[in-house]
Amino acid sequence: MEGALTARDKVGVQDFVLLDAYTSESAFVDNLRKRFNENLIYTYIGTLLVSVNPYQELGIYTVSQMELYQGVNFFELPPHVYAIADNAYRMMCSELNNHFILISGESGAGKTEASKKILQYFAVTCPMTQSLQIARDRLLLSNPVLEAFGNARTLRNDNSSRFGKYMDIQFDFQGIPVGGHIISYLIEKSRVVYQNQGERNFHIFYQLLAGGEEERLAFLGLERDPQLYKYLSQGHCAKESSINDKNDWKTVSNAFSVIDFTEADLENLFGIIASVLHLGNIGFEEDDQGCATIPDTHEIKWIAKLLGVHPADLLEALTHRKIEAKTEEVICPLTLELSVYARDAMAKAVYGRTFTWLVNKINSSLVNKDFTRKTVIGLLDIYGFEVFDKNGFEQFCINYCNEKLQQLLIERTLKAEQAEYEMEGIEWEPIKYFNNKIICDLVEERHKGIISILDEECIRPGPATDLSFLEKLEEKVGKHAHFETRKLAGPKGRKRIGWMEFRLLHYAGEVTYCTKGFLEKNNDLLYRHLKEVLCKSKNVILRECFLRAELENRRRPPTVGTQFKNSLSSLLEILISKEPSYIRCIKPNDRKEPSKFDDFLIRHQIKYLGLMEHLRVRRAGFAYRRKYEHFLQRYKSLCPDTWPHWHGPPAEGVERLINYMGYKPEEYKLGKTKIFIRFPRTLFATEDALEFCKHQLVARIQATYKSCLGRREYVKKRQAAIKLEAHWRGALARKAIQRRKWAVRIIRKFIKGFISRNKPLCPDNEEFIVFVRKNYILNLRYHLPKTVLDKSWLRPPGILENASDLLRKMCVRNLVQKYCRGITAERKAMMQQKVVTSEIFRGRKDGYTESLNQPFANSRINEGDINPKVLQLISHEKIQYGVPVIKYDRKGFKARQRQLILTQKAAYVVELAKIKQKIEYSALKGVSTSNLRDGILVIHVSPEDKQKGDAVLQCGHMFEAVTKLVMLVKKENIVNVVQGSLQFFISPGKEGTIVFDTGPEEQIYKNKNGQLTVVSVRRKS
Ligand SMILES: Nc1ncnc2c1ncn2[C@@H]1O[C@H](COP(=O)(O)OP(=O)(O)OP(=O)(O)O)[C@@H](O)[C@H]1O
Ligand SMILES: [Mg+2]
Repeated sequence: MEGALTARDKVGVQDFVLLDAYTSESAFVDNLRKRFNENLIYTYIGTLLVSVNPYQELGIYTVSQMELYQGVNFFELPPHVYAIADNAYRMMCSELNNHFILISGESGAGKTEASKKILQYFAVTCPMTQSLQIARDRLLLSNPVLEAFGNARTLRNDNSSRFGKYMDIQFDFQGIPVGGHIISYLIEKSRVVYQNQGERNFHIFYQLLAGGEEERLAFLGLERDPQLYKYLSQGHCAKESSINDKNDWKTVSNAFSVIDFTEADLENLFGIIASVLHLGNIGFEEDDQGCATIPDTHEIKWIAKLLGVHPADLLEALTHRKIEAKTEEVICPLTLELSVYARDAMAKAVYGRTFTWLVNKINSSLVNKDFTRKTVIGLLDIYGFEVFDKNGFEQFCINYCNEKLQQLLIERTLKAEQAEYEMEGIEWEPIKYFNNKIICDLVEERHKGIISILDEECIRPGPATDLSFLEKLEEKVGKHAHFETRKLAGPKGRKRIGWMEFRLLHYAGEVTYCTKGFLEKNNDLLYRHLKEVLCKSKNVILRECFLRAELENRRRPPTVGTQFKNSLSSLLEILISKEPSYIRCIKPNDRKEPSKFDDFLIRHQIKYLGLMEHLRVRRAGFAYRRKYEHFLQRYKSLCPDTWPHWHGPPAEGVERLINYMGYKPEEYKLGKTKIFIRFPRTLFATEDALEFCKHQLVARIQATYKSCLGRREYVKKRQAAIKLEAHWRGALARKAIQRRKWAVRIIRKFIKGFISRNKPLCPDNEEFIVFVRKNYILNLRYHLPKTVLDKSWLRPPGILENASDLLRKMCVRNLVQKYCRGITAERKAMMQQKVVTSEIFRGRKDGYTESLNQPFANSRINEGDINPKVLQLISHEKIQYGVPVIKYDRKGFKARQRQLILTQKAAYVVELAKIKQKIEYSALKGVSTSNLRDGILVIHVSPEDKQKGDAVLQCGHMFEAVTKLVMLVKKENIVNVVQGSLQFFISPGKEGTIVFDTGPEEQIYKNKNGQLTVVSVRRKS
């Protein structure tokens, strides 16, 4: 905005409100020109958009441009039709109210283009869902269809809308376009049968001929060349280079497929279009009586085929007229002129009603079947004020329509605004403007207005003509300041008005209307006879357009003028309930040329569009006003004092709010019930602040809501957890109690079992006993003796003693077995020897127990230690054992070192190389030892033996040597363990005695009695 302000010398100001000389029309035009020369076609007057037709593509309608304007404050970007659309859309979304955009301007000023741009803007920028895309496409594509049937080339505009159009775009609560509704106004039917020089009929005729498929044309009985059709060739410009009918046909065909048109619909529709062309080519001739005839019925046949009527009926209806005389019907022929009239009337009626059918059909495809509340933005693209050299009934209606819309503008802006300032007690200098109500009344007032007078003239019995209508006007409204006729005008004006004309001083300027054709057009008469034929048509569209009820209804249908008046008043009702936005379109020149700025033409448009008055009011006024309640409601979140609730009077709340926002005194005024904000920027700053604040509020609301949800979730979970815990604890407790009960039962049983353990088996002790058994057996595992010598054994309970004994025995046996299996042959032999030793000495001789631990050796003397001579002497015998011994002489008991060597046959006492004594085992009488700890052994030999006598030996390995000897001798009972003393045989017949005694130390000596005394230490074993 600021950038634009600095560039204003070159490009002018983008809002006329900023113009210094705002009262000067020249300055206004200047500004417009500057901008136009720079291709800046849009300028604001406050929120009203002035648009000048550039007549060239400017590249300002791209998608990126649309995105640029989307959601941006109105004055932040250069003026654009998108800004108007976006503003209306955002207001609608935020305030949930209905809007309309009134697009006005004269023919060719760019109204239809502007409305299309707005529609495209909504289509591109509004949010969209997949399912609603079809609604959007239909809204967009309804345009080419309506334009094909309702637009035509005129001298002023190659695509001039020949009907007024009001289109509601419906939005749902999310701002998605979901449907629409179109109302059409007063289609220019006369164009179907007549076009001025340089003008064309409605586009659809040319499109069908240029683009229609061969088969279709053949089916319709049409040729491609439009020159062949009278209704298309009067303007002499059927072929126009700026219009591409073939391409347009494609667009229209495609649009038909989107807007739910079936092939049957199209067949019927184009049947009608073609039949209009055929109608135009019907040639009449006059017969002798002056009656019309149709010599060539070729066209009649085609029409009859296409419309599904009887050719003869059609032919008759075109050349005859039914007159109802009381109860009878009389058919009388028509003159040539009347037949032509009937034919044209039929063409117009058929086309006009088909157009209405088309609009209804489009509406039914646009209707949104979801009946939730919708908000709408209406687009009003209606014919602008028209002044031609010759102005007829149509111009009269169009200009009347523009008067009404100007009235609306005055009511809504100029008048209402000023009245509001006054009412609100705002200081205000009234601005003069022309209120055109007086002209509206002149046209529409009941019984007194021009339309009423025209109607009266139409229904009046007797010969009514256009001239008689003019006379009536002079009579009834002749004195009106805005009405003039040739008769009423002064000498000056008289020259400029024809005899058949009247002049209206419109708000936009004078227009002279020729009354010729007023009555006829107002009546819009279609002969009953023709209506009857059309009612019987087999063409479905026509049957819907011409209802039988119409024939049966004897009342006169309302005239065109009255119909138009009524439809205008209902349009105004629609508009009044909505918030307006205005686009004023200006045509820069009459030649449709770019970069041509015709000052005169533009001044005229500025004048009749009332732009100067609008600027004056805007300049003096306020950009925005709002009831305190509403203002506060909208912006209260911006001030801590008013948020969330303000409990005082709203006006005070607003004051508090704007003080907090820092409004400067010149920026606003406070009225009685409303606040008035002078500059849009102040409002936009407030809006921006609200937008910012909204996010914060939303974040807070979301946070609160989320925390609420979270808490709810948490409480739910907590309760669930508590319940789970309770159930779990319950389950655990129940389990524990079961366990305890079970334990008690077991303990009780155990005790009972224990008490009755010694009783015979009964239920009380049965389990206990099993338990004890099991327990004992299981325990026993860990307490079994590990070796044969381990005598420990787990003490069994009483009832298991027998079993225990058995087990013990088994165990011992097992151990023994194991032990035995582990014994080597050598050890076994030794053990056997030990067993022999035990049998001999156990319990009889001291030292035996200690000897048990001393293992026996195979021999105590190595063969190497035996003298070789001795070895040689006993070489025939195998030495079984050898041990060093002390031999005591039989006489003196002298101790001598000897070796005792045992063979299989004999025992040898050896001294070095001598065998001192050989004792054959057969001569061995016995072996004696004492019961004491000494190592004395006496080997007794039989006296008859030539032996020297018994051998008294002392051996360190006494038990071993005796055992070996006994085993070799194989006589176990030869050993004699004596106590006290023993007798031995010294030599044949001579005996000696050995006394065994105990003492403190070991001694062997010869006592006084010549006995060998052996003293042993007695030790307890
Ligand atoms: N914004 C624009 N940019 C480029 N060309 C434009 C623009 N507006 C209008 N025109 C040109 O001007 C022609 C006439 O515009 P449009 O049909 O909108 O006029 P109108 O006001 O609807 O006239 P009528 O009352 O006859 O229907 C368009 O066909 C187009 O060529
Ligand atoms: Mg138009």
